[in-house]
Amino acid sequence: IPVDPFDLVIFGGTGDLAQRKILPALFRRYCAGQWPEDAQIIGAARGDHTPDEFRKMTAESLRQNAPMRAQDVDALNGFLQRVDYVSLDALSAEGWQSLAKKLKENRVRAFYFSVGPSLFGPLAERIRLHDMASEHTRIVVEKPFGHDLGSARALNATLAAHFDEGQIYRIDHYLGKETVQNLMAVRFGNMLFEPLWNSQYVDHIQITVAETVGIDGREDYYERAGAMRDMVQNHLMQLLCLIAMEPPAKFDPDAVRDEKLKVIRALDPVEPHHIVRGQFAAGPEGPGYRDVVSNPRSTTESYVALRAHVSNWRWAGTPFYLRTGKRLVARSSVINVMFKDAPHSIFGEEAGRHANALSIRLQPNEGITLKVTIKEPGPGGMRLIDVPLDMSFAEALGPENQDPPDAYERLVMDVIRGNQTLFMRGDEVEAAWAWTDPVIAGWQARGDVPKPYDSGSTGPGDAELLMKRDGRRWQGIKP
Ligand code: BG6
Repeated sequence: IPVDPFDLVIFGGTGDLAQRKILPALFRRYCAGQWPEDAQIIGAARGDHTPDEFRKMTAESLRQNAPMRAQDVDALNGFLQRVDYVSLDALSAEGWQSLAKKLKENRVRAFYFSVGPSLFGPLAERIRLHDMASEHTRIVVEKPFGHDLGSARALNATLAAHFDEGQIYRIDHYLGKETVQNLMAVRFGNMLFEPLWNSQYVDHIQITVAETVGIDGREDYYERAGAMRDMVQNHLMQLLCLIAMEPPAKFDPDAVRDEKLKVIRALDPVEPHHIVRGQFAAGPEGPGYRDVVSNPRSTTESYVALRAHVSNWRWAGTPFYLRTGKRLVARSSVINVMFKDAPHSIFGEEAGRHANALSIRLQPNEGITLKVTIKEPGPGGMRLIDVPLDMSFAEALGPENQDPPDAYERLVMDVIRGNQTLFMRGDEVEAAWAWTDPVIAGWQARGDVPKPYDSGSTGPGDAELLMKRDGRRWQGIKP
């Protein structure tokens, strides 16, 4: 279904994110026929390009980043005709008049701030100053949304000085992933799981986001951020919220975000002995973290494993183990809900004890596996074994669904539709920082040094100990 006509201005339009993610996502939606007749995209950046040069640059990025079928190649020209460019400076009046002239009246007007947070304020001010904001105006901002609670509050205040919360779309691209949205469908679309979804039946939950990539090309940013700020404060926190939250009454923006916020606010502070930091070391597969950032004394972590507690009626006593890291053995994002043992074994202890587990694979090989216990085949008596009830989305949904849409396709279109459900609200981001900050402050106060781990491994050995001490173990990281 086509969306309403729109003007989308991308500040930082020549930058990496715009060229690699945002424009390809818009192009794919264009090819899917979701664009209204006269929608337009205006790239805006400091560079002195003509609209034609910008279109050429965009065409090149699309060829590299959006796999094209024959019919898409034909669509490319039509798409590029809707793409325009203004050279503009966020910090001066230069270019703003020309931008204002290109915008059309009475339609959705979205401004995508694909720039560093220091420019959020100046851009918001100029938009107001040049009278470009209307009730149909929306602002899109990317992470990192602040560096800590103080800076996130300051950013929220800056944006709030110019726009209502209902106009601000804070992106966490994990929320745009099909399988992450599926977490809500699995939990709240089935009768089967929700009655068991609590500390009475769930022993613990594991959330793993393992990556094989390093930090090449973003050394400066990463050295200041580390895994806690880069991944845990946002992506892993969002996954935790979707797994732990109460059922919202409706699938609408505030109903969902209110429930997520309650989860973050119910999190206990993390105990220092419940967290392990790691940093990848040099090995046969490549240089170590410290070489990559050219800082032999860097104490920035590229890996975090921690045990969190959601202190509320539903989850009291059920730990959530979170881990994420770079240069690990495989790319694998998976949530494992580990159920408790049956309260009593009628087959006797010698039959073996087995517990159910539900694995939700977010990427790659998206799907769900439920581990169930059955009788070991054969005449040798009653012995129990585990078997997987395995469902791969690609197989179950057919070849046309093998390639789920990129997160940005969903999110950019939601901006145009005016649906904030999959975007973070200001108070959510602040609450996540309020939980993250003391952990980082603790490391700094103690002069904590991350544990080295081998590239291509599952992370530092201490992360295994974190589990072992509790009589548990991590599920394997499998591609
Ligand atoms: C980004 C982080 O937000 O998410 C990166 O800054 C990380 O460090 C990326 O690699 C992971 O996203 P995805 O979609 O590849 O899982």
